[in-house]
Amino acid sequence: MNELLIRGRVLTFVDEPNGLEDTASYRYFEDGAVLVRAGRVVTSGPYDRVKGLATADAEIADHRPNLVLPGLIDTHLHFPQTQAIASYGAQLLEWLNTYIFVEEQKFAQPEHAAFIAGRFMDELISNGTTTAVAYCSVHPESVDAYFTAAEQRGMRMIGGKVMMDRNAPDALCDSPERGYDETRQLIEKWHNRGRAHYAISPRFAITSTPEQMEVSRTLVAEFPDCYVQTHLSENRDEIAYATSLYPDAKDYTDIYARYGLLGDKTLLGHCIYLDDREVSVLAETGAVGVFCPTSNLFLGSGLFDRDRFDRLGARWSVATDVGAGTSFSMLETMDEAYKVLHLQGQRLSPLNSFYRMTLGNARALGLDDRIGSLHAGADADIVVLDSSAKPAMELRMRTAKSLVEELFILQTMGDDRCVAEVYVAGKAMKAKAITRQGALAR
Ligand code: GUN
Ligand code: FE
Repeated sequence: MNELLIRGRVLTFVDEPNGLEDTASYRYFEDGAVLVRAGRVVTSGPYDRVKGLATADAEIADHRPNLVLPGLIDTHLHFPQTQAIASYGAQLLEWLNTYIFVEEQKFAQPEHAAFIAGRFMDELISNGTTTAVAYCSVHPESVDAYFTAAEQRGMRMIGGKVMMDRNAPDALCDSPERGYDETRQLIEKWHNRGRAHYAISPRFAITSTPEQMEVSRTLVAEFPDCYVQTHLSENRDEIAYATSLYPDAKDYTDIYARYGLLGDKTLLGHCIYLDDREVSVLAETGAVGVFCPTSNLFLGSGLFDRDRFDRLGARWSVATDVGAGTSFSMLETMDEAYKVLHLQGQRLSPLNSFYRMTLGNARALGLDDRIGSLHAGADADIVVLDSSAKPAMELRMRTAKSLVEELFILQTMGDDRCVAEVYVAGKAMKAKAITRQGALAR
């Protein structure tokens, strides 16, 4: 069986870092290697030891002096919004109506959905992201396009059809029955097929009637192994509107709680204006608050209060939220995350940033046995990062004195130019993006 020996400065986390000095939270091998066989990590560690375990004919990919890390993970974005990034001048509700609900209608056309799905996956890979959780459009065909493009590339991807039955154009609305039937069929078709996982996706309380929320509850009860994703507490006008539509609910969080949608497979985009009661409900149910810094700044939504989540013991993850998010790059996302927290007097250490993009997000998805670190048996989803990829970074790196400083430079100055190579289930992808080979290029 063909083996691949990936050599470089290997960095992988084993736990959440506590501050800048927490060397116990990660493993770092200056001359390290990852041995890959059949799409899985056999072992990772010092090059000499790992090399000793490889077969004589193992292929060697020498990435020195670059860093070798687990592939990055994005826990919330919208695949049909790929061409809507940088839509000018509006906050959430106006932005949805003016730009997004127009853009998403294009995904009724399977050819368009397939074209964008391919470009979307290649863009993730170019940015070092090997697993992501995305909303598709209301059209089942968009989900087929999404998972087909992921399967062609061998990627572990999570996604689902958005359910909406009010407060959106007719062309984007299903109904409680259709939302249920189509979601059920898509789960049966895609969930756990290869590396695909399904996310039941009522868009948010504003665009789902109580009847559709009931249907979501039924789906979650019938398919407890699926993810659930929705949006929560992103914008003050949104909160006022959502709570007015569900007058019996204590607050926005309680709307989802009442319909049984909160559990440890639930991902809640944004969670900016939650009070202690609401964050405590997330802590009790295990639901994850998803911090989307570039989106929250771009739409003028607000600042995610990470310390409140930590104080109350609630789980949180990080994500781009493209197309309100302005970049597919998790490095650029963590750069903005640092600034959002800094504005509130909170700190995000570079170690914690890199933990969050890898093992932290994998734990948020309950997938840390498979992705997010380079332990024996993990999927061989790997990113190779060049900290000197840009001239200004190369200059800055000359003065860097530690690994932690290098990570901070990478997150603050880096982007897709720093991604030297990406392996998906052990296959080198960066130079081989399917659309770059011309098949679908336009
Ligand atoms: N809330 C409901 N839908 C969306 C969306 O598509 N993007 C963002 N940022 N927030 C939402
Ligand atoms: Fe979103």
